[in-house]
Amino acid sequence: MKPYLTYYKKNKIIPVIKVNNKNTKILDKQRSNLFDQLKIDKRLFYNSEVLEVGPGTGYNANYLINCGVKKITLVDGNKSSIESVKKTLKKKKSTQYKILQNDFLDLRLKKKFDFVICENVISGVKNPEKFFRKLSSLVSDNGYLLINCSDNISLFSEKIRGVIAYLLIDVNKLNNSSFKIKTKFLSKVFASHLKSLGRNTRAIDDWVQDVLLYEYWWRKKSYFSLYSAINTVKDKFNFYSSSPFCFTSYSWYKNTKFSLNDHTLNEFLKIQQNFFDIRSKNIYFSKKENKNFNNLVNKACKCIYSLKYENLNNLLSILYKFKKFVSKYEKNNLTVNSLNQVIVILSDYKKRKKIDIRKVEKLKSWWGYATQYIVFKKK
Ligand SMILES: C[S@@+](CC[C@H](N)C(=O)[O-])C[C@H]1O[C@@H](n2cnc3c(N)ncnc32)[C@H](O)[C@@H]1O
Repeated sequence: MKPYLTYYKKNKIIPVIKVNNKNTKILDKQRSNLFDQLKIDKRLFYNSEVLEVGPGTGYNANYLINCGVKKITLVDGNKSSIESVKKTLKKKKSTQYKILQNDFLDLRLKKKFDFVICENVISGVKNPEKFFRKLSSLVSDNGYLLINCSDNISLFSEKIRGVIAYLLIDVNKLNNSSFKIKTKFLSKVFASHLKSLGRNTRAIDDWVQDVLLYEYWWRKKSYFSLYSAINTVKDKFNFYSSSPFCFTSYSWYKNTKFSLNDHTLNEFLKIQQNFFDIRSKNIYFSKKENKNFNNLVNKACKCIYSLKYENLNNLLSILYKFKKFVSKYEKNNLTVNSLNQVIVILSDYKKRKKIDIRKVEKLKSWWGYATQYIVFKKK
C-alpha cells in the first residue's frame, strides 16, 4: 500500500481545500501570511525555479505563479489531484508550470530548484526520512527547502478523534456501509469540532475523509517531527525560519561556536508540549520532562496503532497516567478535562457498547498545533 496514493486513488478523492472563485482571495492571503511568517519575501519567487511535491488542488502553485515564478514543476501521484491542479491553473500560461503524474519516490529529476516545497505530505508517508532526503537533494545552491512537520504530540487530539470515529462506526453498525455514508455520518458528528477552529479551513467532509476515515494515517506510530527534520539535513542545510517561531536566545553573541541548527533542536524540546493543545501556551519543559511527556504520548500511540474493538484497556490505562502527568503542570485544567472526557467515552464503549454524541461534542475545542512549518537554506 502506498500511503495517501492507494487510499486517495481507491476513493477517487483529493480531500484538501478546493479552489473556487469565492475563496481564491482568502487562500492567497493565507499564502502571503505564511511566507511572511517564514521570512520568505514574495519577490524571491520572481523568476525562480520551484518544485512542489504533492500540490493537492494547486492553490499554492496558483499563488506562486502570480508571484512571477519562471516555472513551477508539480509532482503528484494521484489522478484526482492532477485533474484538480489543471482546473485551478487553467488560466495560467502553460510555460509557467509543468505537471508530472508520478509517485515522487519513483521519479528521476535531473535539475535542481531554487525552492523545493512539500506541504502535508512527508509526515504521512512510510519512510519520511527517505522522502525528505530525496527532496533535499533537489535544492540548488543557496536554495530553500520548505516543508511542514508533525509528531505524535501535535497530532494526538486528531488521532484520538480517529479512535472515537472508529468506535462510533461500530456502535452505529456502519462497518459495512459505503465510504459516502460513513463520510456523511461522521461529518455530522464532528461538524462542531471543525467549526471551533473558525472559518477558512477545509470542508468537513474533506477533513473526515483525510483524517477520520483514513485509518492508516491516524493509527500511524510515528510521523516526522521538526526535530527529525533538522537532524536529517543539518550537515547540508541551515535552519532558516519556522512557524511557529518560538526560539529565543542571545547566546550567538557570546558563544562563537553557536550553531543555529543545534540551538533550534534544543529550543524545540523546551516548547514541544505546547503543540499538544492550542489552548495551552508558553509552557517550558526541561529535557527530562520533555522525555517523560514523549514517552507517555508514544506509548498511547503504540496502543492506538494496534487498537481493536475488544481491547481498549491498554490505551485507557495510559490515558489515566497521562492525565495525572498533565494535571501536575496545567493550570486551567482544559487538557486534563479533555483527556478525562476521552476516558469516559472509551469506558462507555467498553462497558455498554454505547457512545453518547454529547460527550464527543465536549471535545470540540481540543486541538493540537497539528503541523509546524520549517524552512532550510542550503549551506
Ligand atoms: C494531504 S495532501 C496535501 C496537499 C497539499 N500539499 C495541501 O497541503 O493542501 C497530500 C498530497 O500528496 C500527494 N502524494 C502523497 N504521496 C505522494 C507520492 N509518493 N508521490 C507524489 N505525490 C504524493 C497526494 O496525492 C496529495 O495530493
